[in-house]
Amino acid sequence: MSDIFKAVRVTDNVYWVGAIDWTVRDFHGYSTSRGTTYNAYLILAEKVTLIDTVKAPFFDEMMARIASVIDPAKIDFLVSNHSEMDHSGCIVETISAIRPERVFASVMGAKALAEHFRLPQEVTPVKDGENVSLGDLNLAFVETRMVHWPDSMFTYLREDELLFSQDGFGMHLASGERFADELDPAMLEVEAAKYYANILLPLSNFVAKVLAKARDMKLPLKIIAPDHGPIWRRQEDIVKIIHSYERWSAQQRTNKAVVVYDTMWQSTAKMARAIGEGLTAGGARVKLMPMSGNHRSDVATEMLDAGALLVGAPTINNTMFPTLADVLTYLKGLAPKGLIGAAFGSYGWSGESIKDIAEVLKEMGVELVGDGLKVKYVPDDDALAQCRLLGEQVAERLNQAVAAEG
Ligand code: FEO
Repeated sequence: MSDIFKAVRVTDNVYWVGAIDWTVRDFHGYSTSRGTTYNAYLILAEKVTLIDTVKAPFFDEMMARIASVIDPAKIDFLVSNHSEMDHSGCIVETISAIRPERVFASVMGAKALAEHFRLPQEVTPVKDGENVSLGDLNLAFVETRMVHWPDSMFTYLREDELLFSQDGFGMHLASGERFADELDPAMLEVEAAKYYANILLPLSNFVAKVLAKARDMKLPLKIIAPDHGPIWRRQEDIVKIIHSYERWSAQQRTNKAVVVYDTMWQSTAKMARAIGEGLTAGGARVKLMPMSGNHRSDVATEMLDAGALLVGAPTINNTMFPTLADVLTYLKGLAPKGLIGAAFGSYGWSGESIKDIAEVLKEMGVELVGDGLKVKYVPDDDALAQCRLLGEQVAERLNQAVAAEG
């Protein structure tokens, strides 16, 4: 076993034994520009327990970190909080290596693991609120169905007041530091928001229910240990990330307008800039995002608190420019609520892209301002004045909507 990788102490009872993935840049369509971690945790109780595993290529790294504090064969229990393969990809190898007495997962987790793998051992399903004694320490399981998979659950270590929160409160961030209070808070805010926007946004109703359930349970929290990114151990950081989740799951809108577009010969780009000027003049905060220089997952992040989405594309081969089809498909899946919007673009013959964009925006429940603004070939001064006016009109409607929400 490699002597390179070491466990990191979290409490007297708990060690981080995960893996750092410095190189991953694409996580099923999400741009992980800062890499990620796959966190696994070892509880040194009378019944030694491993919480989650890591992505398959990092099995050796996890085992080496475990071996730096205890012989892996001494592990009695394995808990799988979430069966997505970044946490279960090496579960077969792990079970074969450590031969645990019991493997625990939620009822749906046991089913999902059986549907993914031929496990060398049966999984013991645990119910919401069920307790398991580790001898001197105690675990409680909290079902968090659809946050963000049907199988998802949290595991709470009572004596340490520590919540193993699987993907919840996590972020994709590779770092040498294991704790949030050792890292730049502004960067953490950006990455936590990006994670929420790209993974949890469409499940916001379920997130709100889990937060309400946790409040009702009144579990004291000294540490939140997620499966990605740093561990939260400072009380003010724990309060802040929970408050952020409350805000994001409520989908509170601000007067920010995001203008997403692409261009062939700069005509749609000119329209976007004129619309942006109108939005600013109307009192909106504006973010222009040309798809030539922005990733779909960064657009999703900007949409987390935006109140308006304006989408522009030229028509190519009787349909919208493909980069816009990509980002619209992605945003539609993330299902942001309560948006004002508009469609625009340039064309040469028929101009289908504007109608196609408007259709997708309507399917997303976006309240459209205007019927879609089309400009043939190149916008002249009159056309650019119409673009600016559209921006002002969207800003006016956005201001009304934000004021009505209070
Ligand atoms: Fe990090 Fe949903 O897996």
